[in-house]
Amino acid sequence: MADIYEKVIDLFRRRGYVWPSGEIYGSVAGFIDYGPLGAMMKRRIEDTWREFYVIREGYYEIECPTIGIEPIYLASGHLKGFSDKMFECPHCHEFFRADHVAEEYEIQNAQALSKERLAEELKDKKCTACKQPLGDVAVFDFNLMFGTSIGPGGQRKGYLRPETAQGIFTDFGRLLRFYRDSLPFGTVQIGRSYRNEISPRQGMIRLREFTQAEAEIFVHPDEKNHPNFSRYADYRMPLFGIEQQQENLEAVTLTMREAVDSGLVASEYVAYYLAVTHDFMIRIGVDPTKIRFRQHLPDERAHYATDCWDAEYHSSRFGWVEAVGIADRTDYDLAAHAEVSGEKMTVFIQYPEPRLERRCAIVPKMGKLGPRFKNRAKEVGEKIAASVPKDGGTTIEFDGEEIFIEGEFFEIRDEEVLVQGEEVRPHVIEPSYGIDRLCYAVLEHAFHQDEVDGEMRTVLRLPPAIAPVQVAVFPLMNRDGLDVIARQITEAIRAERILAEYDDSGAIGRRYRRQDEIGTPYAITVDYESKDDDSVTLRERDSMQQIRIRIDEIPSTIRKLIRG
Ligand code: GAP
Repeated sequence: MADIYEKVIDLFRRRGYVWPSGEIYGSVAGFIDYGPLGAMMKRRIEDTWREFYVIREGYYEIECPTIGIEPIYLASGHLKGFSDKMFECPHCHEFFRADHVAEEYEIQNAQALSKERLAEELKDKKCTACKQPLGDVAVFDFNLMFGTSIGPGGQRKGYLRPETAQGIFTDFGRLLRFYRDSLPFGTVQIGRSYRNEISPRQGMIRLREFTQAEAEIFVHPDEKNHPNFSRYADYRMPLFGIEQQQENLEAVTLTMREAVDSGLVASEYVAYYLAVTHDFMIRIGVDPTKIRFRQHLPDERAHYATDCWDAEYHSSRFGWVEAVGIADRTDYDLAAHAEVSGEKMTVFIQYPEPRLERRCAIVPKMGKLGPRFKNRAKEVGEKIAASVPKDGGTTIEFDGEEIFIEGEFFEIRDEEVLVQGEEVRPHVIEPSYGIDRLCYAVLEHAFHQDEVDGEMRTVLRLPPAIAPVQVAVFPLMNRDGLDVIARQITEAIRAERILAEYDDSGAIGRRYRRQDEIGTPYAITVDYESKDDDSVTLRERDSMQQIRIRIDEIPSTIRKLIRG
């Protein structure tokens, strides 16, 4: 008997949710097309995400190109650090990602081992595909970014973005001005990202082109308290921290307040977005009994993160799957872009009152210095103040030159300076959502089969706000004016910006089954009584209960049922 995964995939293809891309040419793994229903459902999930992040949090959305020029990825660390260790079987020439076969080979932390050490470990193993002994294999790093060239002649190298985040970081200065030079602020982006994954074989879970919804929230480095924390302080959810994992314990269910107070979650900021993510996942229809939040073990973290939690869901075929990563990226990205671009990437934070601060100033002695040093002596002084012995000379590096500073030329003074504020490099908290993985979770968890009147019924129990088609309208018969009434009702529902599908073909039972299978939450049937009493039957998908309602009440009733 087919397992749930196969049944779900079969439904996706038959009913127009998802199918392989470019099928007529044989398709390549890692690329999918969303069909008419899949594209609509994905859009609704993205719009729900906007409700949480853009409308509620006030983090405006931007849209950057999916191709970025080389310096972006030089600075971000992706050119160097965004690679997987892999090897090729010398017999069947299949390529393998080391950490994908590590479990089967019982190799611990495969990605963290040196290439030589990993090759040693692989020596006496058998290829998982052709079962021949691997022997000597060359382990190599494979960068996951797709490269391209910009313009004719390939003068300028570009890369398809591996995450949407970098566009937000490179726009930091402009965004800061947009948010009137104050912290905290957040910016989001929903769009395609690209990773040249090595032999992806997990359908919608591991793609080479996929959609991310990312929020980058810029906060003062000393700020640990989220301004709206009280919204989720009592929110309970399952947390699977480093300790629980290392000691083979179960996930613990805590309120966010308890999680922060116990130190399990490092800050209110991280805890807040863990809770937002849990809330969002349940809203779009991920089964709450199949969600957990797992903290990354130290050797799992991305090159930019100091703390990271994954929202994972349980899938029948793939076990626990990461759908969302919530990371504390510190000032890693802004510092890196500041260094490569020469831009400041800081925020001037004004003190509530100017402060008198003691500064060690190096003041040039008049007549002893050339004009170049005179002008910059103060700047030099501030830079080296701490390291200059007051009684003697020292050598400092300034603008790439070695300068010997002698007491003879400079006077070193302790000064009291009135300081208005300070330049601060914000830290970034990043909730990063994989929309395709969420779409899969929603569909797999919504998939149910039950028996109705001795027949198997397949039903997608999608939340009404996420279902692609929200109402089906059927005339019992395609004649006697029932069709006219049904078409009028369809139009009245559409006028509420609700997607209604009119269907008059086949037996009524089959029409219900078809709508159940695609997840349509409500069906309206116009019958002969409708002509006499201006009422219709309204059927709810999951309970299959039917009630009669008046035709003129349909738009407002449906609106309430779908939008709450
Ligand atoms: N900016 C941070 C970042 O990109 P990530 O954990 O690499 O972090 C975030 O990616 C999310 O994007 C993941 O949790 C996952 O849902 C999704 N994702 C990553 N690679 C993917 C792939 N190859 N196919 C589908 N989704 C993917």
